[in-house]
Amino acid sequence: MRLSAVILAAGLGTRMKSSVPKVFHRLYDKAIIQWVVEAVTSLRPERTVVVIGSHTAAVKGLLGDFPCSFAFQKEPLGTGHALRSAASALKGFEGTVLVISGDTPLVKTASLKRFLALHRRKREDLSLISFVPEGSHCYGRIVRDGTGLRIVEHRDASESQKAIREVNSGIYAVRSDLLGLLRHVARNESKGEYYLTDLVGLASEKGYRVGAHVFDDPMQFIGINTREDLEQSHQYVRESLVSHWMAQGVTFFDAARVLLYPDTRIGADTTIYPNVCLGPRTEIGSGCVVYPNTRVTDSRIGNGVTIMDSTVIESSEVREGATVGPFARLRPGSVIGPSAKIGNFVEVKKSVIGAGTKASHLSYLGDAEIGEKVNIGAGTITCNYDGQSKHKTVIEDGAFIGSDTQFVAPVTVGAGAYVGAGSTITRDVPPRSLGVSRATQRNIEGWVAGRSAREGKKSGHPPSERGKRRR
Ligand code: UD1
Ligand code: CA
Repeated sequence: MRLSAVILAAGLGTRMKSSVPKVFHRLYDKAIIQWVVEAVTSLRPERTVVVIGSHTAAVKGLLGDFPCSFAFQKEPLGTGHALRSAASALKGFEGTVLVISGDTPLVKTASLKRFLALHRRKREDLSLISFVPEGSHCYGRIVRDGTGLRIVEHRDASESQKAIREVNSGIYAVRSDLLGLLRHVARNESKGEYYLTDLVGLASEKGYRVGAHVFDDPMQFIGINTREDLEQSHQYVRESLVSHWMAQGVTFFDAARVLLYPDTRIGADTTIYPNVCLGPRTEIGSGCVVYPNTRVTDSRIGNGVTIMDSTVIESSEVREGATVGPFARLRPGSVIGPSAKIGNFVEVKKSVIGAGTKASHLSYLGDAEIGEKVNIGAGTITCNYDGQSKHKTVIEDGAFIGSDTQFVAPVTVGAGAYVGAGSTITRDVPPRSLGVSRATQRNIEGWVAGRSAREGKKSGHPPSERGKRRR
């Protein structure tokens, strides 16, 4: 069977109340239209035509990686008019045309395949997917009277027609030579639009073989018209992802408050606490624990890693057995070695931290290359930026960095060297030596009594009281 596809995406989507066209809205990491184009192009149609209206450049940008072409609908005069706009892009094609709304992102390629097979097996000229949605909705009702079949839009439906539970999904398979009938579709009186749905009644009246096929799993056919529909779709995807990973051996505490992306991968025996967001482009190993309020995106987490509460990890890698957090931030380009520890209030950026190295408290490590089994004292800061460019700090294996040290990069600390607490290191520290730069401490005995005597004479107040009043 020869196949081409038309995706209708030129509508304004006014019900979203947005400055952005409806099909641009994101469902997880992809725009609504990208989901649809992906599902359709997986069928490898000869031609895939996306009908677009305003924001041409932006749509083309979103769909640049897909094998599709574009047709332009000058004015959004309805779905029937939109399909007519694709006529020249389909010129010369003879076969089945799959027509689908660009706002139906959850449809599975497998369902489309099954539908096309049905269309062929039943030798129909026009087929459509119908479904039975739950709750209240505004879908077009499938009206079967006598031998005919037609679709009545919600706004045009009588009370008895509204009671019909079978509705139109907006997914059709049409023999290409039937598309000429669109010319005979009249403008709908109540809305002033040319309805694609009227093609169904028209073809049926003219004696063509027309069929509506009820598919189950109604959420797969949700058309996103409102923010409410978008949120419902998010919930649906979230729930199916969580169920999938539970079946793969992942434990969730309060799964309703975990956000996973479709491409997130999680190993067995990992435990995920509430308010955790994993993905997109994220892989979590097995036997990990992810504590609450954590976000991991575009990252790879090895096996047996513990991510403590309130941690953010972006475009980084954490290797086997490491611990990160609480309140840690790994910025892009960080690699945390096996069994390393990145503790409270530690920020790491574009740095490699060696195996077994510990930075347990209050540090900034940027553009650093830190070896194995290094101890980074509390409050260590790499001064990596001089206002113009970034410089590197290298700390070799086994070095011991005292607390409150600043490394004015570029600078290197050799293997096994020590840096005294409170140092500002501006020159390289050779291996196995001590670098220390703090001023020598002086103790002035009896100084407090002397000061009180001096200042008491001037003001009559003890020094602490005077300080307060000055402030
Ligand atoms: C449409 C169907 C309805 C069906 C529902 C399924 C019609 C008249 N009604 O209703 O029977 O139950 O989908 O979700 O077809 N579009 C254009 N140009 C236009 C108008 C719309 O390209 O001038 C595109 C939109 O971008 C959208 C798709 O066509 O992706 C469907 O349009 P929409 O307005 O959402 O139709 P519904 O009212 O949902
Ligand atoms: Ca719709």
